[in-house]
Amino acid sequence: MSHSPASPLLQIEGLHVRVEGKEILRGVDLAVNRGEVHALMGRNGSGKSTLSNAIMGHPRCEVTGGRILFQGQDLAELPTDARARLGIFLAFQYPMAIPGVTVANFLRAALRATRGADAPVKDFRRTVTAAMDELGVDHAFATRYANDGFSGGEKKRLEMLQMSLLQPTLAVLDETDSGLDIDALRIVSEGINRLRSPERGFLVVTHYQRILRYVQPDRVHVMIDGRIVRSGGPELAFELEERGYDWLDADAGVGEAAR
Ligand SMILES: Nc1ncnc2c1ncn2[C@@H]1O[C@H](COP(=O)(O)OP(=O)(O)OP(=O)(O)O)[C@@H](O)[C@H]1O
Ligand SMILES: [Mg+2]
Repeated sequence: MSHSPASPLLQIEGLHVRVEGKEILRGVDLAVNRGEVHALMGRNGSGKSTLSNAIMGHPRCEVTGGRILFQGQDLAELPTDARARLGIFLAFQYPMAIPGVTVANFLRAALRATRGADAPVKDFRRTVTAAMDELGVDHAFATRYANDGFSGGEKKRLEMLQMSLLQPTLAVLDETDSGLDIDALRIVSEGINRLRSPERGFLVVTHYQRILRYVQPDRVHVMIDGRIVRSGGPELAFELEERGYDWLDADAGVGEAAR
């Protein structure tokens, strides 16, 4: 296994992905270094969630070309749980409700899956309580069923709680475009800013530059039709807010006959 400190944390090269027989990603190139926050933007259906899922190794994402390297290691043969153990974390765009499983047990299972061993109950309680206090979450939260009837803000709290417990090296946050009020936005932003460190990288999928007022991204990427067609600094997010995505369609070759 190579863990060359010179290689980017995440390097995606010419990635092609099919979902249920349909080509969704059509040659994605992306590199995220340690210490960086990257924002991924793009219209609905452009392939942002597909890219997030492919990084995590979702079985529905069939990689038909290119590769995903994490700290120089090709992830191709690794199932999702192995990727989580390497330090990759994915927060889903639409987190699933898990009736019957409390937040505490959900977090415990997540920790067990990534660490490969259970922490003693007492230590676990202490860790969760500390993380809750840090995030300003009521302790009663731990006894509720995970994501069951949760508000948008509560889902984000659980997401951030999970992330701060797992301390991932690479966090991919697939954020929703709806239902995120200013409160939820702050929860996510603060969660990212708190964990931001020279050791860690973030890929944040977002529709609006609103979140980028709180989280200063190092790079902003635009995905159109399964490709990253433009990358830039934070100013690109503001440009998109003003101009939308249409002006980039020419770069994406949208409408070309040869596809
Ligand atoms: N299970 C599936 N079967 C067929 N097509 C799918 C499936 N899942 C996703 N797709 C298609 O893949 C394309 C990309 O979807 P994806 O969810 O990655 O987009 P997105 O950029 O995350 O969109 P949004 O901004 O709405 O979250 C869409 O055209 C979608 O319809
Ligand atoms: Mg999506």
